[in-house]
Amino acid sequence: MKVLVINGSPRGDRGATAGILKPFIEGMESAGANVELVNIPKLKINPCRGCFDCWWKTPGVCIQDDDMKNMLPKLADADLVVYATPVYVDGMTGPMKIFMDRSIPLLEGKWEIRDDHCRHPLREGTKAGKIALVSVSGFTELDNFDPLVVHMKAAALNMKREFVGAVLRPCAWVIPVAEERGASFEDVIESLRDAGHQIVSNGRIADDTLSKISRELIPRQQIFEQFG
Ligand SMILES: Cc1cc2nc3c(=O)[nH]c(=O)nc-3n(C[C@H](O)[C@H](O)[C@H](O)COP(=O)(O)O)c2cc1C
Repeated sequence: MKVLVINGSPRGDRGATAGILKPFIEGMESAGANVELVNIPKLKINPCRGCFDCWWKTPGVCIQDDDMKNMLPKLADADLVVYATPVYVDGMTGPMKIFMDRSIPLLEGKWEIRDDHCRHPLREGTKAGKIALVSVSGFTELDNFDPLVVHMKAAALNMKREFVGAVLRPCAWVIPVAEERGASFEDVIESLRDAGHQIVSNGRIADDTLSKISRELIPRQQIFEQFG
């Protein structure tokens, strides 16, 4: 199985998103997946200009000559695309949104009705695979992810990909900070590995694994008093 992991955090390998992705990717690889990780804020990917040339003038080809040229074939060929982003202002980061906007050359301009809903057909050669979301937030409550999860599920339908799970780690920044003070969250890290293994071998992640990943790290009041 080919897996493309898109990290939309501007902090790249130093970020909390990367910290969560590491064991998740280890789990996917242990189940036999061929995983490629791309930190998109490092790339030159300009915002979509909205010209629709990729639909009408040069079908499948964007007029902009930037790094999205190399990314579109990877996206089209991935069996599973993992969109990984921290919550920024209750949604995804800017680079992630730009990346998703720039993926429309993989769709055709015309309409089709799927499940009684208008959608765009996938361009020939684009896989109708799966999508997963990995996200971290600064705040403690799981509902901070609600708008992002709704958005990703809607985008998956438009990209004709099955949404197979949301790996959500509230307050992920606490992990390295508290570990420096002697705390251990090895059970959370192990559950992330399990989640990666499960998504490749079973096509989904068990609910109890997702709950273990999102569990309270330390009581909210303590975070509030020590770091808030
Ligand atoms: C511009 C900006 C907006 C943010 N908005 C939210 C938010 O709406 N809700 C939240 O829980 N955390 C928010 N955060 C906190 C990030 O989600 C948190 O710091 C996260 O751990 C960053 O991940 P990273 O280290 O991978 O970049 C925001 C951070 C930034 C920089």
